[in-house]
Amino acid sequence: PTGLVTDRYARPLHDLRISVTDRCNFRCVYCMPKEVFGKDFAFMDRDELLSFEEITRLARISVAHGVEKIRLTGGEPLLRKGLEELVAMLAALRTPDGREVDIALTTNGSVLALKAQALKDAGLRRVTVSLDSLDDATFKAMNDVKFPVAKVLHGLDVAHSVGLGPIKINMVLKRGQNDQDIVAMARHFKDTPYILRFIEFMDVGSSNGWEMGAVVPSSEVVARINAELPLEEVSPNYSGETSRRWRYRDGGGEIGVISSVTQSFCHSCSRARVSTDGKLFTCLFATEGHDLRALMRGGCTDEQLSTVMAQIWRERTDRYSELRSSQTGGLRASGKKRIEMSYIGG
Ligand code: GTP
Ligand code: 5AD
Ligand code: SF4
Ligand code: SF4
Repeated sequence: PTGLVTDRYARPLHDLRISVTDRCNFRCVYCMPKEVFGKDFAFMDRDELLSFEEITRLARISVAHGVEKIRLTGGEPLLRKGLEELVAMLAALRTPDGREVDIALTTNGSVLALKAQALKDAGLRRVTVSLDSLDDATFKAMNDVKFPVAKVLHGLDVAHSVGLGPIKINMVLKRGQNDQDIVAMARHFKDTPYILRFIEFMDVGSSNGWEMGAVVPSSEVVARINAELPLEEVSPNYSGETSRRWRYRDGGGEIGVISSVTQSFCHSCSRARVSTDGKLFTCLFATEGHDLRALMRGGCTDEQLSTVMAQIWRERTDRYSELRSSQTGGLRASGKKRIEMSYIGG
C-alpha cells in the first residue's frame, strides 16, 4: 500500500536523510573526536553498507509515502566511491504526482572542488558545506586534522560556479572554541550567494563530551550579529524547517539559526534517517533503528517493505529535544548508548 503517512502526532514523512558512509577524513571535536574515532576504530565493512540499489529502493518507497527531499550525509558522503551514480539514480525518482525530488548533500567540502561538476551533472540540486571558522588555527583545531580554510572556500566557489545552489554553510558553535568568530563569519558571507547557518552544539551520540556550558544559544548569536549588522526575522521556507531565518535590514542576504537545544523543533519534525547499514531511525537521538537491510537481503517484496516502513512512521512518537528541554539533564543520565551522528547521518 502506498500513500502519504503521518505519525502519532500527525507529522508527515517529508525528508529522508541517508548516511552513505560512516567514515570521514575530518575528526571534528563535536562529532568524531580522535580519542574515540582513533586508528583502531572499527568502521563498517563494505558488504555491511547498503548498495546504491538498496538505497534507491528505500528511497523510492519513501517517496511514495510522501518524501520530497532526500539528503545524503555521513560521515563524509563524498568519500563513498561513485556517489554521483547514486545521485543519478535518486534524481530519476518522481513523487506520486510526478514532480522531481529535491536531492541535497551535506559535506565538509574537502573534496568538493573535484566532485562538484560530476554531482551537478548527475542531478544534485544543492549542497550544504560545514565550515566552523575562517581562522585557520581555529578551524584546524576543530576539524583536528589540520585541514585549511582556503580549500573549503575553494570548494564552495567551484560548487557555486557549476550551479549548485542555494548553497548553505553550517557553522557548529562550541563556546570557547569558535564563538569569537560569529560576527566575522557573518560579515564574510553577507552580500554573497551563501546562506550561513549557526548551529547549537547538540548532545547527539555518546562520545562528543557534550555539556550545556559549551552551547552558544541562538538568541545570543542573533543578538551579537544584530548589534553590528541589524537583522529582522523572516518566516520559514516550509513547515518543519530546522532553521529560523533572519535577514539583514540593509538587504545583504540572510542567515539562519538552528536551535535544537534551546528551542526544539520536534513538533514539526518530518525527518526519517537511514543509517549506513540500512537501519531506519525516526529520530536523531534514537537508541535503536529498524533493520531494513535484513528485510531486503532476506528477500522481502516492495509491498512488504512499504507496509513495514509506513507502519514504523505511523507509530512514531519521537520528540527527544522537546523532552530534553523539559527535563534538563535527565535524559542523558538514562544510560542507554545513543547512536553516533556519523553513522545515523547528521
Ligand atoms: P535544509 O534542507 O537546508 O533545510 O537542511 P537541514 O537543515 O535539514 O540539514 P543540515 O544537514 O544542513 O543540518 C543542519 C543541522 O541541523 C545539523 O546540525 C543537523 O544535525 C541538524 N538537524 C537536522 N535535522 C535535525 C533533526 O531532525 N533534529 C535535530 N535535533 N537536529 C537536526
Ligand atoms: N551538534 C550540532 N551539529 C553537529 N554536526 C555534527 N555534529 C554535531 C553536533 N554534535 C553538524 C555538522 C554538519 C551537520 C550535518 O551536522 O557540522 O554540518
Ligand atoms: Fe566529518 Fe562532518 Fe563529523 Fe566533521 S561533522 S567529523 S566533517 S562527519
Ligand atoms: Fe526530530 Fe528527534 Fe530532532 Fe526532535 S530530536 S527534531 S523528533 S530528529
